[in-house]
Amino acid sequence: MAKITAGVATSHVPLIGVGIDQGKQNDPYFKPIFAGYEWTKEWISKPENKPDVVVLIFNDHASAFGQNLIPTFSIGCAEEFAPADEGWGPRLVPNVKNHPDLAWHIAQSLIIDEFDMTIINEMDVDHGLTVPLSAMFGQPDAWPTLVVPIMVNVITYPIPSGDRCFRLGQAIARAVESFPEDLNVQIWGTGGMSHQLQGPRAGLINQEWDQKFLDDLTADPERLRTIPHIEYLRETGSEGIEMVMWLVMLGALDAPKELHRHYHVPASNTALGHIVLENNP
Ligand code: DHB
Ligand code: FE
Repeated sequence: MAKITAGVATSHVPLIGVGIDQGKQNDPYFKPIFAGYEWTKEWISKPENKPDVVVLIFNDHASAFGQNLIPTFSIGCAEEFAPADEGWGPRLVPNVKNHPDLAWHIAQSLIIDEFDMTIINEMDVDHGLTVPLSAMFGQPDAWPTLVVPIMVNVITYPIPSGDRCFRLGQAIARAVESFPEDLNVQIWGTGGMSHQLQGPRAGLINQEWDQKFLDDLTADPERLRTIPHIEYLRETGSEGIEMVMWLVMLGALDAPKELHRHYHVPASNTALGHIVLENNP
């Protein structure tokens, strides 16, 4: 049977991708940003930790969808996804390959389980998906894992609640663990942490709030479930709401144990957070 072995969360700040693509890993600005991923790169390269499939929770930033189409929860079921052109041409990273049978199984299981997913058969993927892959795997010729992309709308209100996202994660776990193929599956949550990209509060970073969020992924997940949107807005800035995608990851895990944490300020205008959680240790 397929098994969720770990949860991985990371900010998806586009600047991380720029640093990797332009070979700036040893530049003094980027060095401490990349240092925090070294542990994970080594961990994920070990055969027992290498995922066959990553269920990757991310948000599109008006690259594949615009104001004409705003799916709240959607799942990519195509064979593969090309990097999106976000204004400077597509990133020169490999196409992302899906496990379509698992993706369709998850879609069916979620819909029967009362999460009415939008099914996406054609989509280019932006930094929300490709930057986490680059952070974890560097610059390979092909990504070393298959990816089932699950998108959450965190761009245009109304945005789903953190608790709804947590319950989606629980339903994803039921879906994955009823898939008959033996697969090592990881669930990744992306985005965050505190950041605001526009307006008078642009550059807002709340380190204390972010660290407590990281603590409570293992210490008090029930508190995280109940954080209302207004608290994300007030305490973490307008884009801090991306952290509801970490709650999808959290909902899919059972009594996780923290293996590794990285928090660095600033990356671009943003607090960068990254955590690795072992499932059901
Ligand atoms: C930044 C962060 C994001 O999450 C994003 O989607 C775009 C930009 C930033 O901090 O630059
Ligand atoms: Fe983002």
